[in-house]
Formats: sequence, C-alpha cells, structure tokens
Amino acid sequence: MKALVLAGGRGTRLRPITHTSAKQLVPVANKPVLFYGLEAIRAAGIREVGIVVSDPREMLVKDPRTGEQVTVMVNSQAEIRAAVGDGSAFGLQVTYIEQEAPLGLAHAVKISADYMRDEPFVMYLGDNLIKDGITHFVREFQQEEPDAQILLAHVKTPSEFGVAELDGDRVVRLEEKPALPKSDLALVGVYLFDSCVFEAVNAIQPSRRGELEITDAIQHLIQSGRRVRSHVITGWWKDTGKVEDLLEANRIVLADLQTEIHGTVDAESRCEGPVRIGPGATVERSRLRGPLVIGAGARIADAYVGPFTAIADGVVLDRCEIEHSIVLERSRIVNVPRRIESSLIGRDAVVTASDAMPRAHRLMLGDSSRVELS
Ligand code: TTP
Repeated sequence: MKALVLAGGRGTRLRPITHTSAKQLVPVANKPVLFYGLEAIRAAGIREVGIVVSDPREMLVKDPRTGEQVTVMVNSQAEIRAAVGDGSAFGLQVTYIEQEAPLGLAHAVKISADYMRDEPFVMYLGDNLIKDGITHFVREFQQEEPDAQILLAHVKTPSEFGVAELDGDRVVRLEEKPALPKSDLALVGVYLFDSCVFEAVNAIQPSRRGELEITDAIQHLIQSGRRVRSHVITGWWKDTGKVEDLLEANRIVLADLQTEIHGTVDAESRCEGPVRIGPGATVERSRLRGPLVIGAGARIADAYVGPFTAIADGVVLDRCEIEHSIVLERSRIVNVPRRIESSLIGRDAVVTASDAMPRAHRLMLGDSSRVELS
C-alpha cells in the first residue's frame, strides 16, 4: 500500500500567505500542517509516499471574490521539497510528482498512475488535519477490500461540501456542493483506492470550473458497478484551507499541550496553563496564559500572550497583547495598544503603533491582505 499526498493547489482562500508560501507548510501549533498528515500515514504502516507538487510558476486566475484576473504563484514546490526532503525524517520514502497546474484532485490521481504501479493507495489532502489519524480507516480498507473507500463526517453546512448518499456503508451517490443535500455527510480529505480509480479518472471530463473532480471519478466508479464504501469519522478533522479553520485547528491541537520550558522566563513573568517555550526564547515582564507555544529564539517582553496562540521561531512581541492567533517566523509586534486576536500573521511582518504626527494608519500590505481596524 502506498500514499498520495496532495500538496499542490492554488490556495486562493489563504492569500496573501500563499502568494509566497505553500499553504501545507503553514504551522499548526508550530508544526507544518503537512507533517501531521505524513506522521499519520507512517503510523498507519505505509512507507512509500508520492507527494504531488505544482510547478512554481506564475498563473493568471480569476479571483472568486472579485471576479478579476490576478496573477498568482502556483505553490512553492521548492519549499515543500526542502521541508520534507526524501522523507527519511518521517520514516518514509518520498517521491515528488509534479503537476503542471492545479487541474483538480482527480488530475493529481491521474498523473500518479506510473508511481502507483497498480498498488492500492490512500490519498491524503496535504492541508487536512485528522486528529485521530488514519490507521483505523486504512485497516478497514485492507480487511474489506472494496474498490474505493471514502471518509465522511457529519457537518452543519453540507451544501458547502461534497455530499454522500449512503445505503448502509455503501455509497450510492456523490454530489459536489448540492443546493438540496440528501444527507449531512461530507467528504473528508482522505480517500482509499485500488487501481480501478485510474480507469475512472481517465473517463471523466473537467467540470465547469475546469478541474477533474474526485467526486466525478468516484461517481463513475459507482456507476460502473464498483464497490465504494464509506467510513463515518467521529473524531475531529479540519480542512485548514481558510484562516478561520486554521486557527481552529491550532486551538484543537494546542488543547492537548504539555508544559515544556526550554527558554528563560524571568521572575517578573507569570505563566498559567500549559506553555511550551523553545530553546533560546526569552520571556520578560510578561503574562503567558496557555495553552500556547513560543518558538526558539523568540523574544517576549512586557507582553500578554493568551490561550491558543502559536508564536514561531525568532518572533519579537514587545508591549503588545495577543491571543487565539498564529504568528510566523521572525515577525515583530511592537507597541500595539489594542489586543490582537484571531489573526494569522505571515513571516517577517511588522505590526507597530507610531506616535508620529499626523496620527494615521500607515499600511504596507501585500496583495489580498486583510486588516480589521477598530
Ligand atoms: P483545495 O483546497 O481544494 O484547493 P486549492 O489548494 O486550490 O485551494 P483554494 O480553493 O483555496 O484555491 O485542495 C486540497 C488539497 O489538494 C490542497 O493540499 C492542495 C491540493 N491540490 C493539488 O495538489 N492539486 C490540485 O490540482 C488541487 C485542486 C489541489
């Protein structure tokens, strides 16, 4: 059994972070979201993993919010290769599969045919996080030997997802974002296939949005009389493609944190709840209320860091308050009078207040940035 991890895509919903970076490498509790998936694959006993990455080139796409044509860099293949390498750090043998453009999940399957060589495989969307892993799900597929197996979850807003109609555990129909959903069971980003999926991905046509859809490929399997079974997940899962979901994933993962202090916390600082502080980090005259994580070499002074916050390596927090947020490497938040919350701040960003006259908001923001001032 092999695995196929999808780490290409456009990442439009996570701009501007994805203008310069792969969304699968955005950290949740200071660990790239992709690493949780690779660890879950290894824990399920799989060693050989194909990672689908996109060409790092510019592409003209339509912004779904404004309808305008905008230029985006299609993912950062080099960054993923640098972070995961040959996979040995995870106990995996990784092969990179280049996708010329993000032409759909079923297109990613199509281009992996040579790599899979007729072996069954688990397909894992590289921006998904499944708290209890995938071991149980993989075992079930190995025991039952269906042609395909999908993972489903009960959701409150099924019309935003691919929705399954079931007869027992057998899938009878799949519909992408239906206006009148037949159930509240949405597709979660993990699928298991045997080699008959390649016949399906070759038979289907691109959808209206120009992608080869995995729901169409699975529907094709059902219509060809193949056995597609389902597993309804009861534990927590998240597609971290949007900032709100990323922050929630961060909250859920941090909820299990244990205190571990490798840096220095001065006598004037107070720590409450679980707190993890990386080597070389310093905390002075500050209040830390966990669960929270602070990366190596970070400098926290005269600050409040509240629950569910992940501060990456080398960040400076000075005279500011922050909670329920993710701050990436080397950013500086200095002298900000109001509390920052529910925010995702990219690398090397500077957020500061200035007393210079005239008093005004002076901003230098990347394309597709979002700022809420009050
Ligand atoms: P999505 O989140 O569905 O698509 P996207 O990455 O293009 O994001 P957005 O909708 O915000 O523009 O993709 C799920 C995962 O699959 C994600 O890790 C990216 C990956 N992917 C590919 O590798 N190739 C593809 O052709 C597509 C569509 C996605």
